[in-house]
Amino acid sequence: MTTIAHISDLHFGREVPEVMQGLMANLAQVNPDLVIISGDLTQRAKVEEFEAAKVFLQQLPYPYFIVPGNHDLSATDITERFFKPWEKWQQFVTPNLEPILHTDDYIVVGVNTARAAGFYFDWSRGQISEAQIEFVANTVRSIEEPKLRLLVAHHPFWLPQQAEYRDVVQNRDQAIDAFQRAGVDIILSGHIHMAYTQILNGVIISHAGTTFSNRTLETHPNSFNIIKGNREKLTISFMEWEKDKFHLKEDRYFQRIDNNWKII
Ligand SMILES: [Fe+2]
Ligand SMILES: [Fe+2]
Repeated sequence: MTTIAHISDLHFGREVPEVMQGLMANLAQVNPDLVIISGDLTQRAKVEEFEAAKVFLQQLPYPYFIVPGNHDLSATDITERFFKPWEKWQQFVTPNLEPILHTDDYIVVGVNTARAAGFYFDWSRGQISEAQIEFVANTVRSIEEPKLRLLVAHHPFWLPQQAEYRDVVQNRDQAIDAFQRAGVDIILSGHIHMAYTQILNGVIISHAGTTFSNRTLETHPNSFNIIKGNREKLTISFMEWEKDKFHLKEDRYFQRIDNNWKII
């Protein structure tokens, strides 16, 4: 049985130390095999924010897996944004923007959906390219049964009703079709600071909110998720910050039937 903690949108520069400590206390009880961080590590991609994030990552007593988000690109330094967009990420976090982690029980594939610019008004919107779709699908398809197949991307592949004014990742339909055929089990994302799960084309979509920044939405407190299980059955536990600690808000149960995941 694999136990993965999914945290997101830490937004260093806007982090709340009390909530960060609460997360660490909770993780000490869970003792996850892996911590997945789905982007927006910093608030404004500043050096001091990356330095604080680096200390957090270095002190994290669990293996971690991380992809960048749109906030990890500079919004103010245009030269940096267009000519060396990932230089700080690669200096302070990891040289690899799209990591792959392969263990005896699961594979995690990371995809970088943040873009310096796009052919749309909202540059915070993400995109997954045809080359990225093909790479993920080929990588996942080659994995032997019965390993769990996870994909991590910052931007959403599905949005709940309260967030429909946002955009899903560009090329979502093409991507989800390819991922379903390749056998992706679960896509972990962040970006909109809401925690939710959904089944899309038989694939589990699971979002964590902002885990310990003060950029929370009114009805969505700080949150993270704990994913337990294997390729037959999974439980996703929603953890929410309330008063002075993270509490279990809800457990959701999923089962894989005829290559499709269902909520049970
Ligand atoms: Fe964010
Ligand atoms: Fe974001």
